[in-house]
Amino acid sequence: MDILTADAQLEDELGIDSVKLAEIAAVVGREFNIPPDRLPRGAQARTLSAMADVVARLLADTQPAAVATTPPAPVAAPVPPVSSAGSPVEDLEARVRAVFARVTRYPEALLTPEADLEDELGIDSVKQAEVMAVLVKELGLTDAPQPSQRLRTISTICEMARARLAVAAPVREDRAPRPSPPPPAVLPFAGKVAFVTGAGKGIGKVIAARLASAGATVVVNSFHSRDEGERTVQEIVAAGGKAFHAWGSVAQEEHLDRMFASIEAQFGGLDFLVCNASNGLIGPFDRITPRDWDKAFRTCITGTYECALRARPLMARRGGGSIVTMSTSMSQRYMHDLGCQGVVKAGVESLTRYLAAELAPDGIRTNCVSAGPVHGELLGMFPDAASRVARWESATPGGEICTAEDVADVTELLLGPKTRRVNGAIWVVDAGLSGTVDGLLPGASETRRPGGPRGSHSREHDVRALLALDS
Ligand SMILES: NC(=O)c1ccc[n+]([C@@H]2O[C@H](COP(=O)([O-])OP(=O)(O)OC[C@H]3O[C@@H](n4cnc5c(N)ncnc54)[C@H](OP(=O)(O)O)[C@@H]3O)[C@@H](O)[C@H]2O)c1
Repeated sequence: MDILTADAQLEDELGIDSVKLAEIAAVVGREFNIPPDRLPRGAQARTLSAMADVVARLLADTQPAAVATTPPAPVAAPVPPVSSAGSPVEDLEARVRAVFARVTRYPEALLTPEADLEDELGIDSVKQAEVMAVLVKELGLTDAPQPSQRLRTISTICEMARARLAVAAPVREDRAPRPSPPPPAVLPFAGKVAFVTGAGKGIGKVIAARLASAGATVVVNSFHSRDEGERTVQEIVAAGGKAFHAWGSVAQEEHLDRMFASIEAQFGGLDFLVCNASNGLIGPFDRITPRDWDKAFRTCITGTYECALRARPLMARRGGGSIVTMSTSMSQRYMHDLGCQGVVKAGVESLTRYLAAELAPDGIRTNCVSAGPVHGELLGMFPDAASRVARWESATPGGEICTAEDVADVTELLLGPKTRRVNGAIWVVDAGLSGTVDGLLPGASETRRPGGPRGSHSREHDVRALLALDS
């Protein structure tokens, strides 16, 4: 409540997007008995105080007897299929509004025929194109209007559709009834809310973008890389997805409390959690300090545990959910310079099995993606990156190590319903590298002789700063 100040910009400062704003306006309308065409919109709905002014003005004009007697506005219903018996032009406006409501998730009451789609309702051109694609299918139109034909309101869209259907109708009457149009393409994660930790860059960023493109609303967490987290959100939104930024450390309780409280306030629940955030020294074993162990443990194990336990009630109230944790396939093998991460990630795998059992009664599945070396920023940080990657690739059965997209593929699969009986599983995604013997041991050029003096390293071993960030 304390961040909901009267003059905070609802969209720019609080991240309440246009869909949520429309929902809020509809609830305000119901609570104060305001007709849909007079609900606060655009500039009138940018801050709470602006909204309150509109409501106060309208209430001042309203007779007391009229207050709070109207039943709540109807919820958007699915569009009835085109009936071959009835005229396709019948009830056109209701059907167009219902499609808009379904695709945008706006309350139907707000979708008045004359409201400007972009300026007043905040339905941008990408979303309009999505709606048009569904309308073309459901109304049986032959094609979508050209982008140059600006259809600014629902009523102009209806006029366009009416004209096209009127031309097409006589031809159709002479023919056998058309088969029903195929059901509209619904994105697999539409309506789902996902929280991805450490999603400002690297693999987490690719996972966040993937879940958004599958229809989920994604809460993108970043900590050290705040700007990159915000940029990830902007990129997802620019691509037509829904995303919000949540800044904070998974290793700090107060940060977690704040982030989960905000998820609860904005969405009321959570469907997916991806515990991707990780922090652990990459460097030779004898360089790992107690502080490195502590940081790696707090980020990877305590952080994953705390996120999962906070996600539990939010998922339970939606009838269940799905969690993916992140490990390295080198938790079960030896790879030089990966001791700190390898050991701690073995704990993440064990934690995954425990969470799977503990959270199952709430309908929550927990699985782990255990990745091998993945092309990207992290590998690029090795001073000898090129030679290591070449060596790993030559030791990988198919000759290529994985990409972040490969990890996102498996994460998406484990989150989704196709794996509903998979729980407590550790899925190795390393293109077969960990099944081989070569490639994991130090190459001749970078070997510190076993039994050599402590602290005597080749230059290539000296990569301790790679992940030594404060948590
Ligand atoms: N890349 C690989 O080859 C590879 C291989 C196997 C497994 N993995 C696993 O895949 C995951 C992603 O790896 P990556 O390559 O993308 O690594 P990365 O670039 O180092 O990513 C680590 C992520 O964790 C975040 N992070 C660190 N401390 C945090 C904290 N206290 N709170 C919140 N976020 C924190 C970082 O974000 P901030 O900078 O914003 O803090 C960053 O986004 C990790 O779990 C990693 O162990 C990676």
